[in-house]
Amino acid sequence: MKITYLLSTVFALSFFSATMVNAGEHEIPTAPDEYLKMENPYAGEADEDLLKSAGKLYKRKCKKCHGSKGDGKGSSAADLEIKPPDFTEPGYLAGIKDGQLYWVLLKGGSEEAEMEAYGPGTDANISEDDLWKLVTYIRVNFSK
Ligand code: HEC
Repeated sequence: MKITYLLSTVFALSFFSATMVNAGEHEIPTAPDEYLKMENPYAGEADEDLLKSAGKLYKRKCKKCHGSKGDGKGSSAADLEIKPPDFTEPGYLAGIKDGQLYWVLLKGGSEEAEMEAYGPGTDANISEDDLWKLVTYIRVNFSK
């Protein structure tokens, strides 16, 4: 009797701690190679028009979670179980390929995260071209 009790306690505790660890270690999934290899057609070519039009789109569709400063502290972020990343963390964007950012935008984030897909055919239906402009906007404005 006692052993069963002990075992079930140990089991319950290890299950509990495994769940805690998972919640703390959430990772954004990595894009397949074919996306990581993609070149941003607007890399190094972010002119005023591009930043202005992408900025409008960002304000409409992204700001409430990612924040106007890109720090992940938008007005809706507090309600999210999985928080948006802080793009302005020093070195954060430098360590991520444009193809990775593009892929998350096109396909959405991990299943548990409320980052939906924004590409063609989705509710937002943003063109591939405009997705690249958003990637460019994020990189130019939020890199630290
Ligand atoms: C409802 C809140 C929400 C909205 C709206 C939203 N995002 Fe996200 N975004 C997230 C979360 C949460 C993650 C983390 C996803 C994960 O953990 O898989 C994320 C991840 C990302 C990433 C991946 C970053 C990386 O490090 O790989 C990019 C890029 C991104 N979002 C851009 C955008 C853009 C651009 C828009 C607007 C078109 C947008 N997001 C709209 C919540 C949101």
